[in-house]
Amino acid sequence: MTNLIEIKGVTHAYKTPLGPLPVLNNLNIAVPEGEFCAVVGPSGCGKSTLTRLIAGLMKPDRGEVWLHGELVKGPRKTVGMAFQNPVLLEWRSILQNVILPLEIVAPSMSKADRVARAEELLALVGLEGFEDKRPSALSGGMRQRASLCRAIVHKPDVLIMDEPFGALDAFTREDLWQTMHELRKKEPFTCVLITHDLRESVYLGDQVIVLSGRPATTQYVLDVDYPGSREIDGLYTPECTEMLHTLRDQIRIAQGRVQEEAA
Ligand SMILES: Nc1ncnc2c1ncn2[C@@H]1O[C@H](COP(=O)(O)OP(=O)(O)OP(=O)(O)O)[C@@H](O)[C@H]1O
Ligand SMILES: [Mg+2]
Repeated sequence: MTNLIEIKGVTHAYKTPLGPLPVLNNLNIAVPEGEFCAVVGPSGCGKSTLTRLIAGLMKPDRGEVWLHGELVKGPRKTVGMAFQNPVLLEWRSILQNVILPLEIVAPSMSKADRVARAEELLALVGLEGFEDKRPSALSGGMRQRASLCRAIVHKPDVLIMDEPFGALDAFTREDLWQTMHELRKKEPFTCVLITHDLRESVYLGDQVIVLSGRPATTQYVLDVDYPGSREIDGLYTPECTEMLHTLRDQIRIAQGRVQEEAA
């Protein structure tokens, strides 16, 4: 299987009034086509910075990011992004919000085709019947579902998600994990998911990368061997409990480094 995302020796520091702040240090990540890579690590270690580099919104000081065999030099239409806050436009209906990227990246697509594509996705995530509602008429979980549809409506190769379910309650979050899993079966994107939720990383990830404290490097890679098909109940099996313990231990090690730096 070829790697759709390759992060090779990426090192980056922000310029600050107090001097350079090293954030990423010789980071290497490879994500095969169609796979889901979950990234966990201490707060402030550089995870969101990593998403901006993959999306081409900034360039690393050293190293390279490759997507689909091409060196990333700037933002690309083949990338979709979803964040903790759904950021839907209140003056547009849910359907119009989902269609928005198509208006920008596929101006020649007919209006009927755009609507059909958006309706197909909204039905997939359980929002059939809510197409004409305004964002404020939906619950937080429903808004995040709509935001996911908008992120993938233009069929991106790569979906980057930065704590997309972080603001949701535990039960809604589990529903969204299952929705995400269903979307994956139908839509062929390769995904990088930043999360603070270890259960989420094991449920959705094919691999989980634990980043060290800042400046972040790859501290540990867990190849997820999820028991059975991806049912939520699988999270309560001894196999998953063991993976969660391993990740918990690795996060503690990573946090230790952050505390040492701060001391
Ligand atoms: N534009 C910037 N200029 C200077 N420093 C920055 C900038 N953006 C982020 N930082 C700093 O870089 C470090 C990494 O930030 P980043 O947002 O990537 O961390 P994170 O792992 O996503 O954190 P969290 O888990 O809290 O979301 C932090 O110390 C942050 O203060
Ligand atoms: Mg962040």
